[in-house]
Amino acid sequence: MNFFDKLVLPQSAEHTILLHYIAIMLQFLFLPFFSLFIAGTILSIFNKSKAKKSGDSRYLRFAAELIEIAVLNKSMVIILGLIPVVALIMLYAQLLHTMPVETVTYLLISLIFLTCAVIAIYSYRFAYKYSNLYTRNSELNKSKGASDFSNAVNSSDKKLYSQAGLWGVILLLAGSFLLTGGLYFAGHSDFWGDKSDFVTLILSPGVLLKWIQLISFSFFITASVMLFVYFYWEGGRLKNESEYADFVKGKLFKILIISGILQPLLIVGVFTSYPASALSNMVFFFVIIMILAFFAAFHLLYDMFKNGHLKHTVTLMTLVFVSLYSGTIAEQFSIQNSTIKNSVLMNVVFEESVKNLEKLTASAAGLTGEEIFTQKCSACHKYDQKVVGPAYKDVLPKYEGKMADLVEFVKNPQKIDPAYPPMPNQGLKPQEAKAIAKYIMENYKK
Ligand code: HEC
Repeated sequence: MNFFDKLVLPQSAEHTILLHYIAIMLQFLFLPFFSLFIAGTILSIFNKSKAKKSGDSRYLRFAAELIEIAVLNKSMVIILGLIPVVALIMLYAQLLHTMPVETVTYLLISLIFLTCAVIAIYSYRFAYKYSNLYTRNSELNKSKGASDFSNAVNSSDKKLYSQAGLWGVILLLAGSFLLTGGLYFAGHSDFWGDKSDFVTLILSPGVLLKWIQLISFSFFITASVMLFVYFYWEGGRLKNESEYADFVKGKLFKILIISGILQPLLIVGVFTSYPASALSNMVFFFVIIMILAFFAAFHLLYDMFKNGHLKHTVTLMTLVFVSLYSGTIAEQFSIQNSTIKNSVLMNVVFEESVKNLEKLTASAAGLTGEEIFTQKCSACHKYDQKVVGPAYKDVLPKYEGKMADLVEFVKNPQKIDPAYPPMPNQGLKPQEAKAIAKYIMENYKK
């Protein structure tokens, strides 16, 4: 990544820690968002095809609402989805600078996939509204007896839309896989060097497990957010439609249970695949919180499912987020642990560059009066005693109030007193001549 190498600055140890915190924040933004995006689209497509097979219009409505709720408007996608990923890439370029791991490359490819996925899913979502319009239109046209043409348009367009959705899902899955793999490699030093190639990425069970955990968790998050939006947000949107409300509730519970049942196993699996170098008390602590929060959430879910109520909707969603975020923190800490050597190295480079910088600024501004005196004058001058040159206390009084003359002499000494040999030019810069003149004038009377 030569291009990034140019952008990268050596970091102090404090900065590196800060970067890890920023990485956590960025993931806080886009993880829930991408979870909704992935699971929302898959569920919408799934329910749409179910509607086709069963002829049950509730599925169609559910499919439309899922994509409507899960996929926010375009500016939100850019703010919550793409910008954080771009920022994360820059950040990792910085953190993993000089490290033999291809994380940044994978993240970049993933960004391309995700961007294409977003475009595809938007055309799916957008077309959804219009395909509904078409259906209504064609019903109208039928009654007028002019349905053939509009039906033809209708069906080919519909096909295109579902394909856009499907492509969107494929791209999202591929993009999220690369993202997961890239971050996974960053935290696993045993994959560094020539072992972080693409084939290894695809074949490594750890990456696959992490990815499955992420995807299944995204279904859990999405369904709990849906529960919240359908039944709690602004009093719930299905107040007067108890039949459809039951349908939605049943579906969401089913998704939650299926996606949640293996979650603890997956979480434990993912973290036991971490190398010892990536583990620390902090990592353990947050993994435990992640699992506990998840168990609590699942417990509430079971209660709601068994007794058919929705009382814990908000708590459930909160716990799901606590679990998700704890997992994110644990993972970032594990990456921090794995990359600690590199951070130390960067800190050394940083300190060196600060030293160089100090030298540079010092030589630009010149030496200080005191430094010049000890380096360039003290061999021939003392304040109160004649050495090679006269004592300052004898010659400086005549320069009182004539600083410019003294500066001029120091910069370019002239022959003055026949009792002394001429003073050699000390080759001072203008600022240095000023500094030393000021320094000796201030000090000769002391
Ligand atoms: C190699 C010895 C030598 C060095 C180094 C030297 N000087 Fe001198 N300096 C002399 C001599 C000799 C004289 C007497 C010159 C004369 O009177 O012609 C003198 C004279 C002076 C005078 C008196 C000028 C006057 O008007 O009578 C000042 C002020 C002075 N030096 C300042 C400095 C400063 C400041 C430095 C350091 C940047 C410095 N000198 C470095 C040898 C030196």
